[in-house]
Amino acid sequence: MDSGSPCSLAIFVRMFMVSATASALNLEGELFKDLMKGYNKNVRPMEKSGDITQVSIKMTLTNLISLNEKEEALMTSVWIEMNWCDYRLRWDQPPRSDLYGNITSELRVPSKSIWLPDVILENNVDGQFEVALYCNALVSPNGCVYWLPPAIYRSACAITVNYFPFDWQNCTMVFRSETYSANEIELVLKEEDNHTLEWVDIDPEAFTENGEWAIRHRPAKKVINSLYTKDDLEYQEVVFFLIIQRKPLFYVINIIAPCVLFSSLGLLVYYLPAKAGGQKCTMSIATLLGQTVFLFLIAKKVPETSNAVPLIGKYLMFVMSVTTMVVMNCVIVLNVSLRTPNTHIMTDKVRKILLNILPRLLRMQMRPWTPNTHETPKIPETGNEETLSAGRKGVFLVPCRRRSSMALITKAEEYSMRTARSELMFTRLRERNGLMKSVLEKLRDGLEGGTAEQLSTSLAKASPELKQCVASCKHIAETARQQSNFQNENEEWFLVARVIDRVCFIIMVLVFFIGTIAIFLMGHFNQPPSSPFLGDPRKYLPSLQNLTDTPENAVRADFLG
Ligand SMILES: *[C@@H]1O[C@H](CO)[C@@H](O)[C@H](O)[C@H]1NC(C)=O
Ligand SMILES: *[C@@H]1O[C@H](CO)[C@@H](O)[C@H](O)[C@H]1NC(C)=O
Ligand SMILES: *[C@@H]1O[C@H](CO)[C@@H](O)[C@H](O)[C@H]1NC(C)=O
Repeated sequence: MDSGSPCSLAIFVRMFMVSATASALNLEGELFKDLMKGYNKNVRPMEKSGDITQVSIKMTLTNLISLNEKEEALMTSVWIEMNWCDYRLRWDQPPRSDLYGNITSELRVPSKSIWLPDVILENNVDGQFEVALYCNALVSPNGCVYWLPPAIYRSACAITVNYFPFDWQNCTMVFRSETYSANEIELVLKEEDNHTLEWVDIDPEAFTENGEWAIRHRPAKKVINSLYTKDDLEYQEVVFFLIIQRKPLFYVINIIAPCVLFSSLGLLVYYLPAKAGGQKCTMSIATLLGQTVFLFLIAKKVPETSNAVPLIGKYLMFVMSVTTMVVMNCVIVLNVSLRTPNTHIMTDKVRKILLNILPRLLRMQMRPWTPNTHETPKIPETGNEETLSAGRKGVFLVPCRRRSSMALITKAEEYSMRTARSELMFTRLRERNGLMKSVLEKLRDGLEGGTAEQLSTSLAKASPELKQCVASCKHIAETARQQSNFQNENEEWFLVARVIDRVCFIIMVLVFFIGTIAIFLMGHFNQPPSSPFLGDPRKYLPSLQNLTDTPENAVRADFLG
């Protein structure tokens, strides 16, 4: 028995300790049970009649997931921190303090079992008003509740498309109590260290930056809508603003750069010669089609609004009109370059402007047209015999630049066709021996005799052939001149087309580059204002003195831009 008593004592002590720990462990459970006894979570904590429950709100942004321009919805992942005091949950006052006074830490309470202030996201677009997870609330001994539920919200955000993709957007998240008016609860922004948190909190460690959007301003405001009375639910609301700016690199690389390159290719059409008019048209129309594809890409991206045209859309419309003008220009140039003197008459006025003044102004490598050079030089009269010996030479003296001997031969044959059929045989004979040869043979008799008489007789003998020879020479010269005139004028139409091409090229290049630069400068200067609210220079950000306290906060300073 003696040996048994210390043993039993030990067991007793151990049992006592176990029960003590159990009671200590159960104390929180006891407290929770006690707090929930007779607690009605549907009733607002109102100690005295007329009490207004103050609910303070803080929003911590962990991720700006996306901004869907087409649906005008901003998707964010946030933590909504809410604080309020519920007198029914306090245990720092008697009689509860006697029992649970030793519990000084916060009590974790399922949020669904206590009263909640019913604060919801008012401007959501997907019917998800509530938080994502009803996590536990922390209750302090003084009855104040701290609740930090996470939420993924899709809020409506009116998109301003004017400057897309160099735009910035002003999105809001409006929180309001769905059932309690300003007479029952008061929504306020949270206070920390005597400062009202008038901004959306961003914890640099938890925050994931969005690849498309940079946050420029993130103020928060309690808004009193004076249009309503205090009894209306719309009277008070807490609004978080996110003023975000698009990082345009994605669009620059994927849409703008290809579009500019593609469109400048359209200008290359002018490097094709005027004669390749068909290819010019094909090329510029292909460019036009390519631009239409880009227009489709953009139309898929921006909201279907008719209120404004996005900048990139304006640019595409602009390059498309430039390309359309290039196509029109190609058609006109094609028309002009294929004109012939038979179908069109070119007046000297047109010649003067397009072949003299403009080429000189544009410093084109081209012989300017002058009224003198256009006049066809007269062929010397070849009626007398002296010039006859030089007749052959005379034909070649006909001042036409591009006379081919082939053309002359055809002309000569044409002449032989025109002569009578009886003469045809002789002509053929003469052709074989050469016209001049037969003449010279006849003349040689006279020349060999040496006397003037003999010469005159031989000349008389040869006179029909000589006449024929002269006539044929005249004919050849005449047709050569005609042809040369024809070709000259044909060439003039080509030159006119070239000048028109050059003028249009210069105009289009200027229009294209000035337009491109102007439009992108417009985008470049579309920066969000330096303060979040128009006409209010305040930044709505933590003061810098607080920021530079810790290196962690230095990181945060980066987010403030
Ligand atoms: C609180 O703890 C003290 C010592 O830690 C103890 O003496 C006291 O009995 C405890 N009070 C209650 C109510 O448990
Ligand atoms: C807040 O203000 C009160 C009085 O206005 C002061 O006693 C307290 O020290 C301040 N707290 C901080 C953190 O500045
Ligand atoms: C953003 O919108 C609010 C109203 O919704 C307006 O008061 C504020 O000035 C806007 N901010 C900017 C920078 O335009």
